[in-house]
Amino acid sequence: MVFARNQWYVAAYGREVGDGLLARTICGEPLVLYRTRAGEAVALADRCVHRRFPLSESNRDGDRIVCGYHGFTYAPDGVCVAVPGQARVPRTARVRAYQVVEQDSFIWVWIGDGEGDASAIPRAAWFDSPEYTTVRGMEPLAARYELLVDNLLDLSHETYLHAGHIGTPEVAQTPINTEVDEEAGIVYVSRRMKDVECPPFYSRSTGIEGRIDRWQDIEYHPPCLYLLHSRIAPTGVEPGPDGDDSRAFHVEVGYAITPETETSTHDFWLVARDFALEDEKVSQFLAGSNRTVVLQDVEALNVLEKVIASEPEGYQELSINIDTGGLAARRLLARQTAR
Ligand code: FES
Ligand SMILES: [Fe+2]
Repeated sequence: MVFARNQWYVAAYGREVGDGLLARTICGEPLVLYRTRAGEAVALADRCVHRRFPLSESNRDGDRIVCGYHGFTYAPDGVCVAVPGQARVPRTARVRAYQVVEQDSFIWVWIGDGEGDASAIPRAAWFDSPEYTTVRGMEPLAARYELLVDNLLDLSHETYLHAGHIGTPEVAQTPINTEVDEEAGIVYVSRRMKDVECPPFYSRSTGIEGRIDRWQDIEYHPPCLYLLHSRIAPTGVEPGPDGDDSRAFHVEVGYAITPETETSTHDFWLVARDFALEDEKVSQFLAGSNRTVVLQDVEALNVLEKVIASEPEGYQELSINIDTGGLAARRLLARQTAR
């Protein structure tokens, strides 16, 4: 497997990047991230050009990094500005500086050649909006990112893997609608559930008692950003005849699916809501509950990765209707990877 290069990936949450030197491997490329005194996020290759000591294990001197081994000193643009024991700095002494865009609470980096088009980064404004309250986390996944893409595009697994949290029998029973915008390269998967059971994730956060109407609208922007627009309302309230969902509770679930290596993934997850904005208890509940759900997926996918590693080449899977979104995602990813 190769990674889709010439793409934007989420390397970190903005708040993870500060004075410290944060090491993070993205698509097999080791990076060090930090923030300059002026507040700008910087991402450099995490290997000193001298004897490859990780810059993330080194020290800061103002906006510069001084290699912790022999003192090569790098500016935020990756250029080495001082070497020990000599006045002249070799012209080739520089580490790669990655293009960085901070947006919607994420630090995006361009993994590829040349300059990336920042306007191509998919937006997710809820996660940085005062009209929403967001809880978030990141779990390391010891499995290839494609398994997480598969997992997130088929929410019928909620019924089985996440029973008692977000899954109820109706999720798996309700057919899905899948659409692909070939030109924009986006996969849409949606499911409408009417008059169904309210799982604890939503009853405890919204306070709704009784049955609900529940919408799931997925948007997957390969390779990295997955958005689930979730709408919950007491049965009969939603939607209006014109599709108006303004009386519903809105939950925006996001995942940034960032490959670390060929068989490991950074699983960034976020849950934003437009109700009970100041209610710390609701935040704690949603953070804890979503983390539990994410860990259930992590556990299952870590098992799958081991299964894949032990099986002979060319094993054939069987796909069914619920896999339509996942298959479309694989096709778009294959197209990006081939580029
Ligand atoms: S390894 Fe960095 S200065 Fe020698
Ligand atoms: Fe899941």
